[in-house]
Amino acid sequence: MDEARLKIAVQKVGRLTEPSLELLARCGLQLSRGKDQLFAYGENMPLDVLFVRDDDIPDLVREDVCDLGLVGLNVLEERRLALGGRCASLESLRSLEFGRCRLSLAVPKEFRYRGVRALAGLRIATTYPQLLERYLRERDVAAQIVRLSGSVEIAPRLGRADLICDLVSTGSTLEANHLTEVETVLQSHAVLIRTPLPLPPPKAEWVERILKRIDGVQQVRESKYIMLHAPRAALGEIRRLLPGSEAPTIIPLEGSTDRVAVHAVCRENVFWETLESLKKAGASALLVLPVEKMLA
Ligand code: PRP
Ligand code: ZN
Repeated sequence: MDEARLKIAVQKVGRLTEPSLELLARCGLQLSRGKDQLFAYGENMPLDVLFVRDDDIPDLVREDVCDLGLVGLNVLEERRLALGGRCASLESLRSLEFGRCRLSLAVPKEFRYRGVRALAGLRIATTYPQLLERYLRERDVAAQIVRLSGSVEIAPRLGRADLICDLVSTGSTLEANHLTEVETVLQSHAVLIRTPLPLPPPKAEWVERILKRIDGVQQVRESKYIMLHAPRAALGEIRRLLPGSEAPTIIPLEGSTDRVAVHAVCRENVFWETLESLKKAGASALLVLPVEKMLA
C-alpha cells in the first residue's frame, strides 16, 4: 500500500456505510472500488477507503493501520473504556450528523419495570459491557453483566438474561423481539477519529483540507441563500427576521432610490412563516435557494 496516501476506515456493512461514503463523496472524493471489496482507491485525492468491521475501527486507527476512521461514538467509547488510560489519544476530530442511535436498556414486554435501582441482582445481556458497567456503577446498581458477542435481543427468551442493553435506532429490532426500551445509556452518532501519531506534512495538510470540507458539508445542509427586494427603511426589521445570517449584501435597484435587493446566506432553514413575516415587513420578490458548497 502507498505510504503517502491517507487511509480511512469505514464500516463494511451496517448503518454507517452508506452515509460515510456519502459524506466522503460530498467532500469531493471519487472512489473506484475494484474486485477487492475491502478497499477502494481515491481517484482524485490521496485518500483510500478500507472497509472493515465497525468494532475494529478504533484499534485500526489507534494502531496506525489507518490514519482516519468513521465510527459510531458507541463503539469508540466502549473501546476507550476497555483500554483504560492507554488510549487518551483516541480523540474524535469531528462529531458527524449521521448514524444517530442510542444504547438503551430494554426489558421483555411482560417485565414490570420499576426503575434502574430495582435492577440489582438481575442479569443484563450486552455487547457493550464497558459502557453498561459504567452506567450501573454511576447509579450504584449491582446487576450482573452477561457479555455476548451478538444476538443480544434473543437472550431473554433463551433464559440467558432478564433484560438487555443494546443499540436502538428505529426500534424495530426491539419490537420484533417483544422488548420495551426503558433507559438510555448513551446517545450516539458517527465521529471522525484520527491516528495518535503525527502525520507527515502532505498527509496532515490533506487531513486539514478534508476537515474543512466536512465542516462545509455539515453547514450547508441547513443553509439557504435568500434574495429579496425591500424598502431601505425596512432593512433593520428585515435583517432581524433573516434566520442565522451574517452581514447581508445590499444592492441598489436600477431606477429606484428607496428599494434595494438583499442577498444573504441563512445558516438555518428558511420556513414559509419567515417568508410571510419578511413580506409583511415590506419585502417582495423573495427567492430561497439551496446552498451547494461552502468554505469558510
Ligand atoms: C444494532 C443492534 C440491533 C439493531 C437495532 O446492531 O444490535 O440489532 O442495530 O436497530 P433498530 O432499532 O433500527 O432495529 P448494529 O446494526 O449496530 O450491528 P453491530 O452491532 O453488529 O455492528
Ligand atoms: Zn459492530
